[in-house]
This record gives sequence, structure tokens and C-alpha cells, in this order.
Amino acid sequence: MRDIVIAIDGFSGTGKSSTAKEVASALGYTYIDSGAMYRCVARYFINHQIDFVEEEKVIKALDEILISFRFNKSLNASEIFLNDQIMDHQIRLPEINEIVSQIAAQPLIRKKLVSRQQTLGLHKSMVMDGRDIGTVVFPDAALKIFMIADLDIRSKRRQKELEEQGIQVTLEEIKKNLDSRDHLDTTRIDSPLIKAEDAITLDSSYLTFDDQVKEIIDLANKIIYEG
Ligand code: DC
Repeated sequence: MRDIVIAIDGFSGTGKSSTAKEVASALGYTYIDSGAMYRCVARYFINHQIDFVEEEKVIKALDEILISFRFNKSLNASEIFLNDQIMDHQIRLPEINEIVSQIAAQPLIRKKLVSRQQTLGLHKSMVMDGRDIGTVVFPDAALKIFMIADLDIRSKRRQKELEEQGIQVTLEEIKKNLDSRDHLDTTRIDSPLIKAEDAITLDSSYLTFDDQVKEIIDLANKIIYEG
């Protein structure tokens, strides 16, 4: 039996985060949502009215931003903190969705977050989801999953999630936002979203949540127990 890193990358709204969280919980692994880290930076920039094109301000801000994860026993999950303040719905709002892909395209910001993510993964036994986890953050991850799903299906799922949080957004707006984030994420110069050569593609369009979780757990257990 060995401890491994599981990298789950893919497009926005494919269910990466909820899948990764469930896989981690089933394996007794730590789950790190790397997208939430970019969202925290976006939150900080909005709160402090920092424009990501102003390099000096960005450098100063990055020095002031501390992102940490703390395990909450009663939730059996980690929570993300931005400078000691818990971040929850504040990083999931449409205003964050609007700018986070542009923030995540900035090399200075990526450099800082990638290095933080690599430190978090030093102890293995971890599932991390994002866009460049299997290609840049953990190129040696023992298991790499690349999640894809039909845009219409992703949009409907995202709308349902937002409705559950009391946020009303039209399907058209969601589709436009997901589509533009896909475009920005896949075309940016610094570590764009691409499938690592050794990643396994998982199309979640017509899979139930339980089935996609099971598929990854089965793949992971094969590596953990059989090497
Ligand atoms: O997974 P998410 O939607 O919460 O991610 C928010 C944004 O951050 C998304 O536009 C892509 C970007 N991101 C990234 O560039 N690299 C990562 N490892 C994770 C997220």
C-alpha cells in the first residue's frame, strides 16, 4: 500500500470539486480545491480594488495574501481561509466568476499559488483539483483524471447549484460565463488547461455522481494496493 497524489483537472462545471472531495473522503485523503485559492485572490483584489494589470500593486498584494486550509471535524472537510477569514459563499459569487479566469491567467499569481499547492502536497495522501494539477503542480502524480462534460449539461448543473444557494442567474448567462472561462483557461499562455499525456479522460455528461466517484476510487485503489 502506498500514499499517492490524485490530480483532477478539467473544465469549469464538470463536477471536479464535488467529485474530488468525495473521492478524498472515501480514501481518507486530504482534499485541496486549488480553484478556491484563485477565487480567494480574486476576492482580495475586489475587496482592495486592485487591478491585476498593476504589477507593483499585485506584488504587494501577493505578499499580504495568506491562504490556508483548516480541517473542520464536524463537517469532516477542510475549509479555506483568506488571512484568517473563512471563505465560503464570498468566493462563489457571480462577481468572482466574472474575473477569476483573468486573475488565474497572471503569471505572478500562478507562480505564488503553484508553489503553495506544491507545499500542501508534500505529504501525499491528497486529492487536488484544478486546471494544471497533472501538468504543472504535480506532474508526477500517480493518478491523473481529466474531466469533461457537455456545455449545456454543465450549465444546467451550475444553475441548480446556484439556485440552491439562493442565487438566480439565467441559463444563458451561465453558459456564456462557462464558455468564456473555458476559452480563457485553455488559451492562456501560462499553464493553460490541457490534458496531461498520462491523464485518464472522464466524461461526466451522462454519469451519475456516484458512478464518477466510484470510477476514480477504483482506479486509485488499484494504484494504492497494487502499485
Ligand atoms: O475550479 P474553479 O472554477 O473554482 O476555478 C476558478 C478559476 O481558477 C478558473 O477560471 C480556472 C482557474 N484555475 C486555474 O487556472 N488553475 C487551477 N489549478 C485552478 C483553477
